[in-house]
Amino acid sequence: MSIQQVREQAVTDEVIASFAGAPSERLREVMSSLVRHLHDFAREVRLTEAEWQRGIDFLTRVGHTTTDKRQEFILLSDVLGLSMLTVAVNAPATAGSTESTVFGPFFVEDAPEVPLGGDIARGAKGSPCYVSGTVRSADGTPLPGARIEVWEADEDGFYDVQYDDDRSAGRAWQHAGANGEYRFWSVLPAPYPIPYDGPVGDLLRAADRSPMRPAHLHYKVDAPGHRTLITHIFVAGDKYLASDAVFGVKNSLIVDAIEHPAGTAPDGSPIDRPYHQINFDIVLAPKDTVLAPKDTELAPRGTVLAPQDPS
Ligand code: BEZ
Ligand code: FE
Repeated sequence: MSIQQVREQAVTDEVIASFAGAPSERLREVMSSLVRHLHDFAREVRLTEAEWQRGIDFLTRVGHTTTDKRQEFILLSDVLGLSMLTVAVNAPATAGSTESTVFGPFFVEDAPEVPLGGDIARGAKGSPCYVSGTVRSADGTPLPGARIEVWEADEDGFYDVQYDDDRSAGRAWQHAGANGEYRFWSVLPAPYPIPYDGPVGDLLRAADRSPMRPAHLHYKVDAPGHRTLITHIFVAGDKYLASDAVFGVKNSLIVDAIEHPAGTAPDGSPIDRPYHQINFDIVLAPKDTVLAPKDTELAPRGTVLAPQDPS
């Protein structure tokens, strides 16, 4: 090690040691790892004092943009992929359970209940879309009574919480029926930009990144004895599927929205305009499911891994 490296490492070691007496073992683990990685980052890019100041100014703006209605820190975590990485780290290891994705900022606690076959659009603008499927446990058992909550933007890309009035639209919940089935009318999901009029938007512009999210419908699904599922479905063919601003797309969540002419709807009712239909079956992981272990082997059996560089 050069004298320069020794001096830099001494700072890192001293800071890590300062957390050694923390009573919580988890706090010690998290803080010493955070300091190690943060310091390695500064060393690796040879962070200048002007750049550090710019970073502080940026985080200050993120703080000032955050209110009880807008969480710019979560948005920053989203565009850095940290939200999706945290989702991945906490994903249950049960094969076959529906994949999770980001929660997003547009969930509202007190959405109304709509019955099976009811309309969750409730005045949100857009082309009609009939969504149905089943909720089952990982072993295939239907989960009657599961609570399915959904929310989506209208055809202009706005959630109701972004409207000028207090109207609630494009969101609701329902209980699955006796065989775990659910169904509702909604509007065909539309792509929209994440809020980009603040510091996170400036970061995206500086990086020549798009703020767009592909068309999606959010789900939160609960059933007794099962892990809560937070996910979306994404509409196949959307032009932003490969460039989601928050990295939320998983292939298993992409569904076809099949277009039908006016006539008789899937629920037997007459419909006087064309509509789309989506099917999405949901599989919940039992509550006691273990999380994917950190060292889950991804390489196929027999693969010879390159030896680690011991330096
Ligand atoms: C959303 O899909 O609602 C969303 C997710 C992350 C950031 C902004 C919006
Ligand atoms: Fe969304």
